[in-house]
Parts: sequence; structure tokens; C-alpha cells
Amino acid sequence: MTSAAPWWQDTVIYQVYLRSFQDSNGDGIGDLPGLASRLDDLRDLGVQAIWITPFFPSPNADFGYDVSDYCDVAPEYGTLADWDALVRQARQRGMRLLVDFVLNHTSDQHPWFREACSSPQHPRRDWYVWRDGPPDGGPPTNWRSVFGGPAWTHEPRSGQWYYHAFLPQQPDLNWHHPGVRAAMADVARFWLRRGASGFRLDATAFLFEDPDWPDDPDPDRQPPWPLQPFNSNRPENHGVLRELRAVLAEFDAGFDDERVLLGESTTDTLTELRAAYGEQGDEIQLPMNFVYARHWQRDAPFFQRLIDDTQALLHDRTPVSFFSNHDHWRQWSAFGDGVHNDAIARLTAAMTLLQRGTALVYYGEEIGMGDLPDAELAAAPLGPSRPRADPRDRARTPMQWDAGTHAGFSLGTPWLPLPRTWGDRHVAAQRADPHSLWHWYRALIALKRDDPALHAGAHWPLHADQSSVLAFGRRSADGTLALVLLNWGEQACEVAVQGLPAGTGPTAEVLLASPPIAAPQRLDRVPLSPFGVAVLRPQGMNA
Ligand code: NOJ
Ligand code: CA
Repeated sequence: MTSAAPWWQDTVIYQVYLRSFQDSNGDGIGDLPGLASRLDDLRDLGVQAIWITPFFPSPNADFGYDVSDYCDVAPEYGTLADWDALVRQARQRGMRLLVDFVLNHTSDQHPWFREACSSPQHPRRDWYVWRDGPPDGGPPTNWRSVFGGPAWTHEPRSGQWYYHAFLPQQPDLNWHHPGVRAAMADVARFWLRRGASGFRLDATAFLFEDPDWPDDPDPDRQPPWPLQPFNSNRPENHGVLRELRAVLAEFDAGFDDERVLLGESTTDTLTELRAAYGEQGDEIQLPMNFVYARHWQRDAPFFQRLIDDTQALLHDRTPVSFFSNHDHWRQWSAFGDGVHNDAIARLTAAMTLLQRGTALVYYGEEIGMGDLPDAELAAAPLGPSRPRADPRDRARTPMQWDAGTHAGFSLGTPWLPLPRTWGDRHVAAQRADPHSLWHWYRALIALKRDDPALHAGAHWPLHADQSSVLAFGRRSADGTLALVLLNWGEQACEVAVQGLPAGTGPTAEVLLASPPIAAPQRLDRVPLSPFGVAVLRPQGMNA
């Protein structure tokens, strides 16, 4: 049967930080066979697609985001045959795999960069971004890299400088060069041929730089700094992304098998986010909404506005919502107040998963994994499997599967310790408890997949008469309505829902609630607990 819409709309993509997901051979590092052995768990949760963080050969200056061979698997993660087996096993379970594609830069150990360094005359020299410094010395501009420090590194043999938006070990590719574009298109074909359903595109904002190389007027600004016009979201990006979409189209076979681009499309505003889809919708199908993921406060009015604005501006596109990933905080820790973290985690999950669009779930989010506390992160040992300390490791601890050795992650010593307090917070315990957070995620994902309003229904803006309550509706083409009410406050309240379609109510059935509530008799008086969630179907609207 052919679907009416591409599979990647209104779905759930689960992010696997591969190094930390499941180790299969006792070296303390998660790997592809380990992930394969956990596919049943993900299928049971309702996951439809998996984004796997980079597993290519890499010197690991930035754990795989410095790629030295785009068309192979690093030995620590397995082999190409393991990848092929993973694709087969995922397909058997109806799940698709997205490969993390690092576009902006390679490793400084990639043969392309070594060749580029070998001589200014080498044909690959211009695959990277080289500039002379000013006559009085120093780098060509005063730009800072995203990770701090200068964005230029001096190459002693030629005396020139190469540009890197990130680490010195991550030299930027020159996307003006047709050879780079052709080579990277072939990398995409390599993985598409081997069964990838698409890519998560790394750092798409940074592909081009201002050709006039202006100085940064404020190089000493402190993070988190806004994106800068001289090195991010340049107009030339659009051409590259359209070309990539065309490469994907070579492999498309109907909506059920359409290949997709999920973009790390960092933007500061929703207008810029809209541009990332392409004017004709022919660029990134799923640019992540970073505006949404950068506000780490329990702030119902902020999120109410952001959700309504996002849904209005992207009414003909698929919004992508998420909070957590491997680069910042876990939402359980970031939004938690130390007492109600699980209740708050239910609320943030309902907010990302029940909005119209596609939602990302970061591994462990479904059981309420938290960040590694600062002191434990500082004490975490360095060694061959963790060559350098990185503050982002706080959100990369091993997946907590069961009560066994190292939470079932590995029989060896994990590359990064588990939080000391992981206790009985693991998948096995939560699967056995129908009231657990894992079951809450499972129920939300099932509603998103199966409920006529919550699957593909349009966003219906609502207003709650309490400032702590965020409210929105979803309405299917046949008029079936669902209401989502989220109390971000620590006080219980009774809320009146305003802005309902004419003739709605006055009573409602409960589709899901945390904690459970009786079916409300009046939509102008819905009781919500502290951090309570209610997902309601108004009476008479169920087709
Ligand atoms: C974004 C990735 O998510 C991050 O982990 C990485 O360090 C940078 N891009 C550079 O590739
Ligand atoms: Ca391993």
C-alpha cells in the first residue's frame, strides 16, 4: 500500500550516541552490533527511525565529527558488514537508519587534507580554505572558532593559514570547489546504496564564509554567541543543499522509501529556520528547530509563543522539535527542579512529541537519564578510549539497560562512567512498570502514530487562562480534535481552555494524563496537578 505522505513527516527519530548505547565486545565502547542487539527495545518503544552519530574512521579529536574516511566503519564501531546487517535487521522491524554526515570539515588526518598540505600546487589544495596572513603577522581575520580559540591555524610548510569553524583538527572544506561537491555527493551515494534512509547533516550553517573576509567587530563576546553573518547561513548554502536533495532523489522510491535530510540547521530566528527548508521546499526536509532547544527555563509563555509562531510560520513544512542531544544538557536535568524531575520530563516529552511535526528523542531520555554531575565529570578518567575531557560528555553517559554490570551497557569498563546514582533507573525496570516514564513515552509515541488528530492534524492555537499553562490543539481534516494542556507551574490549578472551535465540549475524554485525572466535565475548569499534563478529546468531536 502506498502512503499519502512521506514516512518522515509526523514521526519520531531516536538519536543513538553510538559510543554510549550498547557495547557488544567488552571494550567499553558502544558499537554497531550492540545497537543491532537493542533494536527490539527501540521497536517496542515505537521508534520509527534512528539517527546514529558518526561511526567512521576518525582520530577522535571530536568523537567521530573529525572524519578521516567517509566510506568505512571505524574498527571500534564494527565493520561495513555490521552496518549491512544493522540495515537488514532494522528494516525487518520497520525502522530506518540515518547516517550522520559531516559536511563542513574533515579530519586533519583525512588523505584529502594531507594532500592539500603537501604543496600549494597540489590539485587538492583548494579543497580547503587557505589564506595568507597580513604582512605584519597573525591570522587572516580575528574570527573565533565555535569551540573558542582562533578559527585559523598556521601551516608552516607553505606559510599559509587554514580555516576551521571548529577545532584545528577539523579543517573546513571549500564548498566552492566542484571537486569537493562531487566527492561529497559520492559519499552520500555510497551510504544510500548501502541502505541509509538519509542523513543527519552536521553543522550546515557553516559551509561558506564571507568572501570579503571582514573582521569580527566583537571577537571577545562570550558564549553562547549568536551566529555571525560572516561565517554562517550564507546564501551559497542553498545551492549545496539543493544538490544533495537531488542526490537523494536518485534513490527515492515512493513516499514509503523517500530519503530524508535531517539538518543540524542552527538558526537564531524562525525566519532563518524557514529558509533552511528552501524556498521551494527542495533543501532540508527536516531542519531542527534550535530556537526551541536553546531556552532551558520552565517558562510556559515563552514556549506557548514559540510553538504557536513555529507552527504558523511552518504550516506547510514539517517542524522538528527536541530538547536534548549530545552537545548540551539532558532535559531531565536541565528542566528538573530536583524534586519533580520525572513529572517535568513527562511534560517536556508531551510538548515535543505531540506537536505537529517530527520529534527527536535522545537515547535515555525515555527513562529520565540525567547529566553526569559536574564533580563526577571532572573525576572521569582519561585514557585511550577517552583521550580528552569535554564538558559535553555530561550528556553522553552509558545507556542504562538493566541492573547488571555497568547497567547492561558493557562487560568491560565503559569509556565514560555511569552517574553514581543511576540506581534502579534502567530500561528493564521501567518496562516492567506500566506507570514508568518509559511507558509514558511509549504511550505518547503511540498517540503520535495512531491518533487521527495527533498524527497529522493541523495545529490549533489555544489559550489557557493560567499563565503557567501551555495549551495547544490538534485537528484532523475530519474535525477530530485533541487538546494538550501542560502545567509548567509547581502549583495545582484549574484551567479554562479558550479558543476552541465552535461547538466543542463541554466535556472531554482523557486520552492520556499525568498524573491520571477523571474525565473533565467542563473544559472551562480542567484540573491540573503541579507539572501535570492532560491530553483530551472533547466530547462529540471523535469521529
Ligand atoms: C555538531 C555536532 O553535533 C558536534 O558534536 C560537533 O562537535 C560539531 N558539529 C562539529 O562537527
Ligand atoms: Ca565495543
